[in-house]
Amino acid sequence: MTRWAGLALIAAALAALPAQAQPVPFPQRATAYPDRPAIAVGVAWYPEQWPEARWDTDLKMMRETGFNTVRIGEFAWSRMEPSEGKFDFAWMDRAIAAAQKHGFMVVIGTPTAAPPAWLTQKYPDTLRIDENGVRAGHGGRRHFSFASKRYRDFSRRIAAEMAKRYGKHPAVVGWQIDNEVGPPSWDPESIAAWHAFLKQRYGTIDELNRRWTTQYWSQFYNDFDQVPLRQTGQQNPGLLLDFRHFTTATWTDFVQTQVKAIRPLIDSKAFITTNTMFWNAGFDHFVMHRDLDIASWDNYIPDGRPDWVANGANHDLVRGYKQRNFWLMETQPGRVDWVPVNKALDPGQVREMAWQAVAHGADAVLYWQWRPAANGQETYHGAILGQDGKPNPIQPEIARVSTDLTTAAPLLADTAPVADVAMLYSYDSRWAIDMQRHHRDFDPIKAFIDFYRPIRVQSQGVHVVSPEADLSRYRLVVAPNLMVMTQKEATALETYVRGGGHLVLGPRSGMRDDANALYPVTQPGPLADLLGANVAQYYALDEGVSVTGEIAGKVSIWAEELVPTAANVRTIARYGDKGGWLDGKPAIVTRKVGAGSITYVGAWLDAATMSKLAESLLAQANIAPLIPGAHPDFEIAERAGGGKRVLIAINHGKEAHALALPPGAKPAGGDWANGEVAAHGVAWFTLPGGAK
Ligand code: GAL
Repeated sequence: MTRWAGLALIAAALAALPAQAQPVPFPQRATAYPDRPAIAVGVAWYPEQWPEARWDTDLKMMRETGFNTVRIGEFAWSRMEPSEGKFDFAWMDRAIAAAQKHGFMVVIGTPTAAPPAWLTQKYPDTLRIDENGVRAGHGGRRHFSFASKRYRDFSRRIAAEMAKRYGKHPAVVGWQIDNEVGPPSWDPESIAAWHAFLKQRYGTIDELNRRWTTQYWSQFYNDFDQVPLRQTGQQNPGLLLDFRHFTTATWTDFVQTQVKAIRPLIDSKAFITTNTMFWNAGFDHFVMHRDLDIASWDNYIPDGRPDWVANGANHDLVRGYKQRNFWLMETQPGRVDWVPVNKALDPGQVREMAWQAVAHGADAVLYWQWRPAANGQETYHGAILGQDGKPNPIQPEIARVSTDLTTAAPLLADTAPVADVAMLYSYDSRWAIDMQRHHRDFDPIKAFIDFYRPIRVQSQGVHVVSPEADLSRYRLVVAPNLMVMTQKEATALETYVRGGGHLVLGPRSGMRDDANALYPVTQPGPLADLLGANVAQYYALDEGVSVTGEIAGKVSIWAEELVPTAANVRTIARYGDKGGWLDGKPAIVTRKVGAGSITYVGAWLDAATMSKLAESLLAQANIAPLIPGAHPDFEIAERAGGGKRVLIAINHGKEAHALALPPGAKPAGGDWANGEVAAHGVAWFTLPGGAK
């Protein structure tokens, strides 16, 4: 009892994973300051790494690059609190004042990703322990335990000290909590918090045993504190999914500890965010963002070869965390330094990718970083200045991004990406599939992108949202692999279909509940009655199989045999004859439900087949692209709001392409000449009918 009582605070916060916040209505922008630029362009600046005598030169050069924003502070804890409880903010006062003098907006990062040596030395209990029991040492970053109460106290204190000092500073427009939170810990406090979490989630150990089905390999537990904390290895899938729920709750609580400390001390218009990573699965980002003001993320193209459609999907997901515009908090000025071959983006691609972010809802583009520190782990990373303090060859291209975005800002202000299609992204499903793929190649992100690609290209606008989001404004909703489907989600999806919506479910959908247990009815489980069909069996494929019918082509990796159980279910694809279990069996079925429909796609379709399917789904939902037949190198997007409609066309190709403009479109900027957009060029236009 005492033990549980001791953990009460954490446990209460970890308790449940409460429902998704209501979407914020459009239009909106990611800064709430009406007198500030609607689009931020800027850079991560680490004044603590440089002599003060250089600051003014750097800030001037940043202005010459067209920047209006700097992000500072994250990682500078040992400079702000050089010894326990002794704060030194004088240098930061001067750095912020200098930035203000040069007209910058400032985003402050709390430094808790990099605890000072005095802290880790005196309080080794705050250090992270990995799954193999190895305690982290000093010199890297993120080496703290996310559950350590002591670390929370130190974090809260430094964050509050900063907020007291800069919370009302006129230059400061936003706050970033920590930096890329993620790795969990296996220290004793984390283990105790895990047990408290499970107790809170299940109430009794009997209930946990029931939901996890522990009468299996003697997994039965007599008490919560017998339950191992594991992320990997031979464990019950219920335990492994709850591990993710636990890390979500713990990281959310870690971030909220700082949010709560600074919120009362800062200007009410300043945003609070935390910067997240590429397809990061360390926690459920929808839950993390519930009590943050905006989403922000760090978009890197590690191999320097953008798969722009796939990258756009991640932007859409980030936009979906809050269903509102976001900040691109970090992106590369050319190259990174953390993959085997750190190839730089080609000339023009940095600008192209900046515009892609904006097209998908970014209201800020910040580069990482201004100038490489003379030493430290990242001396080889792309930067705007070189080690000699002079502009790198990428600088003029980035200056062009600044000019573009500053010029376009009044037009883009209060606009947000338009889409009639929503794709559902579920962390539970992703985790659950990943831990039991059944086919090595069933990568849930790849599966998601394979659906997304033709739908995005053909519709020219997709929102990615949580299965708990309000779907009523979308004409088409696609859930590529909603394997973990709660009863509540199923009910919402059914309501959507009965209200006239078109729902498409991909393979493995509706197979398991939120304890990762199999439903007693096969896919799509709670939606089987609505579909009027279910899956008789699933098969991992080691070679391709053809499908015939309205949607003919090839499938691979995964195939489910569907069995219609209602009269008006139409089979639109069947497996071809190969002398196997699947011969002639339904692969895709669809059913009209009032003005709406539900379709189940039982197999992993190849690109051409998926493209045909996308075409027919979009036609059925009556969704037409803005520019039909645009060259495949083009990324087309619309941002609308505030009485405006803006069309953005990005040519990701190496050649100029003609673009047929929609009626009434008027050029507003960029590389539009003679009916063409230049190679790696960008052009933006206004569209009539701003009420949309
Ligand atoms: C990010 C990180 C930055 C910097 C950057 C380099 O993940 O937030 O601090 O390390 O990577 O690409």
